Amino acid sequence: MADPLMAATAAPLLRIEGMSKTFPGLKALDDVSLEVHPGEVVAVLGHNGSGKSTLVKILAGVHQADPGTVVEVRDAAGELVAGAVAREGLHFIHQDLGLADILTTVENLGLHTSARGRAFAPVRGAAERRRARQLIARFGADLDVTLPVGRLSPAQRTIVAIARALDGWTRPDNVLLLDEPTAALHGDEVHVLFEAIRRVAASGAGVVFISHRLDEVLELADRVVVLRDGRVVAEQATSELDHDTMVTLIAGREIAETAITKRDEAGEPVLTMAGVSGAEISGFSLTLHAGEIVGVGGILGSGREQLAPMLFGALPRSGGRVEVDGRELIPDDTLAAIESGMAYVPADRRRSGVVMEMSVRENLTLPLLRPLRRSFGRLDRRAERAQTRTWIRTVGLRPPNPEQPLKLFSGGNQQKVVLAKWLRVRPRVLLLDEPTQGVDVGAKAAIYDLVLAARRDGAAVLLCSSDTKELVSLCDRVLVLKDGRVVNEVPRESLTEEQLVRDELGLQTAARGISTNEPE
Ligand SMILES: Nc1ncnc2c1ncn2[C@@H]1O[C@H](COP(=O)(O)OP(=O)(O)OP(=O)(O)O)[C@@H](O)[C@H]1O
Ligand SMILES: [Mg+2]
Repeated sequence: MADPLMAATAAPLLRIEGMSKTFPGLKALDDVSLEVHPGEVVAVLGHNGSGKSTLVKILAGVHQADPGTVVEVRDAAGELVAGAVAREGLHFIHQDLGLADILTTVENLGLHTSARGRAFAPVRGAAERRRARQLIARFGADLDVTLPVGRLSPAQRTIVAIARALDGWTRPDNVLLLDEPTAALHGDEVHVLFEAIRRVAASGAGVVFISHRLDEVLELADRVVVLRDGRVVAEQATSELDHDTMVTLIAGREIAETAITKRDEAGEPVLTMAGVSGAEISGFSLTLHAGEIVGVGGILGSGREQLAPMLFGALPRSGGRVEVDGRELIPDDTLAAIESGMAYVPADRRRSGVVMEMSVRENLTLPLLRPLRRSFGRLDRRAERAQTRTWIRTVGLRPPNPEQPLKLFSGGNQQKVVLAKWLRVRPRVLLLDEPTQGVDVGAKAAIYDLVLAARRDGAAVLLCSSDTKELVSLCDRVLVLKDGRVVNEVPRESLTEEQLVRDELGLQTAARGISTNEPE
């Protein structure tokens, strides 16, 4: 007879069997089974809308699974238990982070403790502030823990969410579930997060990791489970997989690498910036030409995250001059920026990109109603519907339903709508912040095609990205920001990922000078 103690240790920490979830008109999960064992990192992969976040949200109690679904978690006594008590052993970092925006970092971290029996305890003390700073400092981040979280950058908020999930551990064999935790993070911060994940796994915890960054999956996960349209289509040890095989498993087909062509001759200057300052940026100068993609790289706090919103007027600009086609732009005025021909795809789509309650069609036509106006100011509904259909096809939206409110789409599909909304206006200047954050491999190729098409159309594109691979493959040149200043400008011919990372971190390379970005 099997030793009951042995049986308990061999049992999984988390067992899901036959999990299904039906939304009105859509089966998001269909008979999914999955086990997570102690010390194991399991990656859940799949295209945008394949059901990954739905699975996590069911475990968190946000959604209820269809009848027949079994979810069990191992408790302190080694028994598999179900229901609300099972949830106590699970810790989450959700795709939308799940932070309370109006509360500070201290309070967001404290919320966790209060949920564990310290309700209404004051969390404003110096000790809590110190504790919060310590938790955050582990990730190399230095942020004001007394600011409302809503005022932090996407990467900073991610770090708060990670710190919170890692702080509430009740037993070493709890399970940590991370839904795209690295989407807003730079390589350096990812590294720190992975170290932390490895530590919790080594102590006996189970980890479920969701990411579209396949290199990360190969690096971190022991096993991958691939979802396609809500069903498990593959389950394999990572050691048996490579990048291309994973792509094929996720997409169900091979995906051709986007052929990235060199630009034609530089066009006329479109966007000129001289001595632009504000927030964490000082004295930024650059001339962007028609038909040019200029990248901006830099780690968290380098100013990279502030540049695009500042140019667009969404963040205060305290000095310097910005011109579009020779006309000066007044600072801090997004309407003036739009009028001048600027479009801005923000890193945080929930904040400034779109209206989550509105449908895809309404969101798409929001920035540019004029061409659809007929006499007496009425909208040309037929034209609106036709255009919406075209864009849905172009970006490969799933499900392709123009009337569905945006909030009901998966994260990656929301990102496609944000991009389509701004490309539709055929902008003169396209400001992109992390444009492929959270999108799957297939959609990424489609988005690169769209950006290249905008360049062919003569747009001047500024691409701010924490993804060095993206910068290297798309850009005609890349500026590297550090501590708010440009520390290097790299032309296309000499762009390599390794060099960009070195520049971003400020690591010196022998026999290599630092150039300024633009002759004044
Ligand atoms: N509340 C809801 N009502 C209706 N449909 C929903 C709801 N939430 C999610 N869906 C749909 O369920 C499907 C799965 O969505 P889910 O968010 O789980 O995808 P995902 O795999 O996490 O994708 P991504 O990689 O883009 O984050 C999608 O088609 C989505 O539109
Ligand atoms: Mg998701």
